[in-house]
Amino acid sequence: MKGIILAGGLGKRLEPLTRITNKHLLPVYNKPMIYYPLEALVDAEISEIMIVTGGNNAGDFLRLLGNGRDFGLKHIDYTYQRGEGGIAEALGLCEHFADKDKIVVILGDNLIEKSIKKYVDKFRKQDKGARILIKKVKDPERFGVAELCGNRVVSIKEKPKKPKSEYAVTGIYMYDSYVFDVIKTLKPSERGELEITDVNNAYLKRDDLYCDILDGWWTDCGTHESLLHANNLVEKKYRKNKK
Ligand code: DAU
Repeated sequence: MKGIILAGGLGKRLEPLTRITNKHLLPVYNKPMIYYPLEALVDAEISEIMIVTGGNNAGDFLRLLGNGRDFGLKHIDYTYQRGEGGIAEALGLCEHFADKDKIVVILGDNLIEKSIKKYVDKFRKQDKGARILIKKVKDPERFGVAELCGNRVVSIKEKPKKPKSEYAVTGIYMYDSYVFDVIKTLKPSERGELEITDVNNAYLKRDDLYCDILDGWWTDCGTHESLLHANNLVEKKYRKNKK
């Protein structure tokens, strides 16, 4: 199993914070944002990791993370996304890295409270298909939203005006190698991006999409409000663990 962190995009919603640096290098409490998804993958016993980045500050990732020694890694792979063609476009750049293996993908601005190892272990045992993690939120219209029937996902809508549930699809996705065939068929959405929600819906159509409800808190850091929220959550967790 291989791990992929998507840290491309231009982070325009965080202007002017992102004018001279990449969103994922901004601090979240006592560490740069990118540390958190990297730690989450390492904790799930994934040691082959690729980071997709972009913009004018890609070299700073290398200066910050190097070959991942601080995380107990021997090596980190990096690749570069031009512009911001979407999450699925960024993932498409990782086909040669994945090399037919199963992958765990984390968005570089997604932070979680608890380990994802138990979900990754389930996916290790899953012979094919995809697995997503969902979480109840107060503002589902900001995210991909999963409509559920029992514990099965029946549809996913990207940022719906009238969400059919309170379950956001978190930015933690697990895929088999079929994902790269799907990405090649995608067309840009209204916002001009290749959408990860279209990828998940393609698996849903084949009845090959599984989901778990994520334990503990989850947040993104894509807006000033959510970045502040993430800082507060991490600080609280840090304080709790120090006691
Ligand atoms: O946070 C979870 C949500 O992330 C999901 O619920 C949505 O379904 C999914 O579309 C995404 O929504 P956002 O619109 O909030 O994603 P955003 O454009 O903020 O991108 C999230 C991360 O993905 C970003 O921190 C880096 C990576 N990314 C994004 C784009 C657009 C790339 O690597 N390349 C890109 O071109």
